[in-house]
Amino acid sequence: MTDEIDLGDTDELPALSARSVQLAMAAGDADAAAAAAPRKGRTLVAADQLGKYFPVQPGLFARASKVVRAVDGVSLRVRRGETMGLVGESGCGKSTLGRLLLRLVEPSFGRVVFEGRDILPLRASEMRPLRRRMQIIFQDPYSSLNPRLTVREAVSEPIRIHKLAANRDDEEAQVEALLKKVGLRPEMMDRYPHEFSGGQRQRIGIARALAVRPDFIVCDEPISALDVSIQAQIVNLLEDLQDELGVAYLFISHDLNVVEHVSDRVAVMYLGKIVERAPARALYESAHHPYSRALLGAIPSADATKRRLRVLLQGDVPSPIDPPSGCAFHPRCPRSVKGTCDRETPPLVARADDPHHHVACWNPQ
Ligand SMILES: Nc1ncnc2c1ncn2[C@@H]1O[C@H](COP(=O)(O)OP(=O)(O)OP(=O)(O)O)[C@@H](O)[C@H]1O
Ligand code: SF4
Ligand SMILES: [Mg+2]
Repeated sequence: MTDEIDLGDTDELPALSARSVQLAMAAGDADAAAAAAPRKGRTLVAADQLGKYFPVQPGLFARASKVVRAVDGVSLRVRRGETMGLVGESGCGKSTLGRLLLRLVEPSFGRVVFEGRDILPLRASEMRPLRRRMQIIFQDPYSSLNPRLTVREAVSEPIRIHKLAANRDDEEAQVEALLKKVGLRPEMMDRYPHEFSGGQRQRIGIARALAVRPDFIVCDEPISALDVSIQAQIVNLLEDLQDELGVAYLFISHDLNVVEHVSDRVAVMYLGKIVERAPARALYESAHHPYSRALLGAIPSADATKRRLRVLLQGDVPSPIDPPSGCAFHPRCPRSVKGTCDRETPPLVARADDPHHHVACWNPQ
């Protein structure tokens, strides 16, 4: 048994940025708005200086073994009912961070705190009830579904594992209700994954994740394998489910427009570290880290009034096996200060003009 951990209060969410609060306000439902606001205020899951270094097999001529610094000292909170967007170039550690939060990957250092409890010292039997509450939705719904299980079996499996049904009838009713919730018809229950389209398979994956009534879901590129026409449907489904069930998401995506649309807050990762974190609107309207500005400036936008600074990212992402000294972005950064940026790692700190906006940069814009 571990003691409740207080991680301090450095990562606040402005209460009224919550989408469900806005929806309730728009509908003139002040009570629902008031009820939704505090639900999003409390930390559900937190990373505290979390890191994962993967060992790399030494090559034929290399003597010493090396490590990939996939996640390198990340602190991040996800609050109840909120969506935290996570963006960054390929290989910067987004999926590894998501898996670390679920303890699907064991960290090299740091802590993962779920509802105030450090989950890393917990044994498998102690983790089991928590596993039910933390789920993942994968990019490729086909490979994440067992081709030999019907939809009924796939969705009822987690219900059975976690003993969430009183009897077979109750289990059947739960599966039917879940399929309805994700927009699939009950008569589809006895079909196999290959009989469905990509969008339908992702709906089955979402039903499976929801079957155990989770509080937190890591959505790892949940729409990138789908046709563009289907993507909006799945995004809307995830948002509706959040409004209904109060589930929190870590939403990982390469589609920066979708991340802006779904997220309460967004964190930008570069080579295993968070370089900027802010409420979504603040970040997209005025990013301060040169990397975020370059990344967001690359979004094709129909809205000319946004006037995003378009800076092209130069060069490739450096290897996480041997990251650059100081600020890892310095070899690509137009604002790099010689003698500082190449020597000292900038900490992620709140801006003086906005305590909700955190930036790791010696010379921010
Ligand atoms: N099991 C592993 N063993 C060794 N290296 C790994 C392992 N998993 C990930 N890595 C490395 O860790 C780094 C981060 O990988 P990760 O998959 O977390 O990045 P990502 O941001 O999710 O990338 P993408 O956007 O392409 O999905 C990469 O360099 C990757 O090659
Ligand atoms: S710390 Fe220096 S190199 Fe890094 S992003 Fe800021 S200005 Fe650029
Ligand atoms: Mg990934």
